Amino acid sequence: MDVSRDAAGFSAITDAARRSGRAMGLVPTMGALHQGHDALISRARDRGGFVAVSIFVNPMQFSDADDLAAYPRDEAADLARCERLGVDAVWSPSVEQVYPPGVDLPAPDPGSIGSTFEGASRPGHFPGVLMVVHRLLSVTGPTSAYLGQKDAQQLFLVRRMVAREQLAAEIVACPTVREADGLAVASRNRNLTPAEREQAPSLFLGLSEAAAAARGGEPVAAVLIATIAREVGAAGLARLDYAAIVDEATFEPLTTVDRPARAIVAARFSEVRLIDNLLLPGPAA
Ligand code: PAJ
Repeated sequence: MDVSRDAAGFSAITDAARRSGRAMGLVPTMGALHQGHDALISRARDRGGFVAVSIFVNPMQFSDADDLAAYPRDEAADLARCERLGVDAVWSPSVEQVYPPGVDLPAPDPGSIGSTFEGASRPGHFPGVLMVVHRLLSVTGPTSAYLGQKDAQQLFLVRRMVAREQLAAEIVACPTVREADGLAVASRNRNLTPAEREQAPSLFLGLSEAAAAARGGEPVAAVLIATIAREVGAAGLARLDYAAIVDEATFEPLTTVDRPARAIVAARFSEVRLIDNLLLPGPAA
């Protein structure tokens, strides 16, 4: 497995693999790799071809300096994990290699959806995400990039950026990996106290109940949202940040579920903010 620090070195490796005619999969990450990342890497590997992973804690997408400083980092463990999973090349760059001083990199605009939900509580988050993903795609030149459905708004905005800018990469969405009790795997889960951890599946529970109601024919978004809020509210340690039903094609809030829709939720346990989402099934025939 090749490990590069500088952009030119990593580009040379991915260029050589591409010239040999191999498909190239990129899995962008911020490190602290867990089973969710493993699933993306495995999916890329199962497709055959060359698998590249980037490990970069992107300061541009953090609105809070303490949050950035507290982000877990363990490069040695991440590299060992990549090696074990059969990754071909890792790019683990410095900030200067991603954002070369004095160079104006493309700064794709997330548009109005970029300031809702996750963007509302984290100003500058999505402009930072799109800027780094654009840069990672241009340095790597992958045929496919693998992203998790766990971060549905991020996935939506990256997909739209790739379409608008006519970038060559195909964006492959991978299902959310969950713990046995339904909690979506996330690096932040380790910061939950045992009591909070016990209540943390309430997000998935609420989403699942909303999905069951939608399957049963309930079309009113407010009713589905109340279902989610009730489950999260029943977890005494959780504070609901938002629950909403959004149009799967536009990420705009819906009042009536009359098209493919996704339920999304965010809640805080002390300082730990958790997010989750579920595609709503259409009514059973
Ligand atoms: P990070 O949080 O490290 O996540 C990297 C990728 O793993 C994302 O596409 C995310 O959706 C996916 N992922 C995380 N948890 C998952 C889970 N439980 N199941 C499935 N996929 C999961 O997201 C980022 O980094 C950054 O914003 C990044 C895209 C790398 C840009 O900096």
